[in-house]
Amino acid sequence: MQTTEQLQNILDQAIQNLTFPDQPKHLYEPIKYIINLGGKRVRPLLVLLSTELFGTDAKEAIHAAMAIEVFHNFTLVHDDIMDNAPLRRGKATVHEKWSTNTAILSGDVMMVEANKNLAKVNPIFLKDVLDTFNTTAQGVCEGQQLDMEFEQRDDVSIEEYINMIRLKTAVLLGGALKLGAIIGKASEKDADLIYQFGENIGIAFQLHDDILDVYADPDKFGKQVGGDIIANKKTFLLLKAFEQAKDENLEALENWTSYKKFDVREKVNAVKQVYDTLDIQNIAKASMDEYLNKALALFKQINVSDEAKFNLLTLTTQLMAREY
Ligand code: IPE
Ligand code: IPE
Ligand code: MG
Ligand code: MG
Ligand code: MG
Repeated sequence: MQTTEQLQNILDQAIQNLTFPDQPKHLYEPIKYIINLGGKRVRPLLVLLSTELFGTDAKEAIHAAMAIEVFHNFTLVHDDIMDNAPLRRGKATVHEKWSTNTAILSGDVMMVEANKNLAKVNPIFLKDVLDTFNTTAQGVCEGQQLDMEFEQRDDVSIEEYINMIRLKTAVLLGGALKLGAIIGKASEKDADLIYQFGENIGIAFQLHDDILDVYADPDKFGKQVGGDIIANKKTFLLLKAFEQAKDENLEALENWTSYKKFDVREKVNAVKQVYDTLDIQNIAKASMDEYLNKALALFKQINVSDEAKFNLLTLTTQLMAREY
C-alpha cells in the first residue's frame, strides 16, 4: 500500500501528463490555466485511496482519477459564472480573465476531456464506471440548478438545503470513492458503503465551505470572502440565522437580503454581525460534526482491516480542519 504522499505524487505526475490541443488558443488555454492553478485535488485522491483501500494498485485508477478532477474543474469554471465569482484559487476566474462565452465553451470541452480520460479505464469496469460517473455528473447539475433557484426563494428549509448540497457537492465525493471501489473490485455492499461515507463527508465538506465563505482568512481562502452573503445564497448559515433571529436581527436579515442595491462590504459585515450574535458558526460546525459522525459509522462497516483504512481516515480528519 502506498502512502498518501506517494499517491499525491502520482496524481501530480498524471496531471502534468494531461495534454490539450494548442488551437483554438482561447478554448484550451483556460483549461490549462484552471487546472494548473492546482487546488487541493481531494477528489482524485479519494479515487486512488479507495482503490488502495480494497487492495488494488492505485495506478489502475489513475485515468478515473483524472476524469474526476477534470470534471470537477469544469464544474468550477461554470459555477464561477453562475456565482459571479471574481476569484478562484487566488487568481482571476476564467470568465473574468477571458469572457463568459469562453468560460462556457472551455467548460463544455472539459466535460469531453473528462470523458476521454474515463474511456481509458480497463474495459471490464467501463459500464459500472460510466454509470457511476454519469449519475454523479447529472446529480451535480441538479444541485447547481437548485442552488440558483434557492437564491430567489425565501422559504428554503434546512432539509431542502441539505438535499441541494448533497447533489451539488457530496455526490461527487461519493462518486469518486465509488469509482475507486469499482476499480478496486470491492463487493457491491462495500462500494455502496463507501459511496454513502463519501456523501456524508461531502455534506460536511460543503457545510464547511459555507462557513469558510464567511469566516476564512482572505489570504488563505483564494476565493472572495462573503460571496455567498452578497448573492443571498441559501447557505446553512443564512437559513439558521433566519430561523433563530428575532426583532432587530431578523429585521436586519430581512432588509439586507431584500436590497437590490447595496455596498458590498456593508452588507457582508451586517449579515456577519447577525451570524456572530446568534453563534451561527458553531451551530454550523455542530451540523458538520453530525455528518462526519454518520460518515464514520458507515466507514466502520466496510469490510477491510483498520490498517487499510488509516489513510482515508487521516485525510477525512484533515479535510474537516481545512482553511481553504
Ligand atoms: C470547491 O471545491 C467546490 C466545492 C464543492 C465547495 P474544493 O474546495 O475542493 O476546490 P479546490 O479543487 O481545492 O480548488
Ligand atoms: C460548489 O458550490 C458546487 C460546485 C462547484 C458544483 P460553491 O459555489 O459554494 O463552490 P465555491 O465556493 O464557489 O468553490
Ligand atoms: Mg461558487
Ligand atoms: Mg455555486
Ligand atoms: Mg462556496
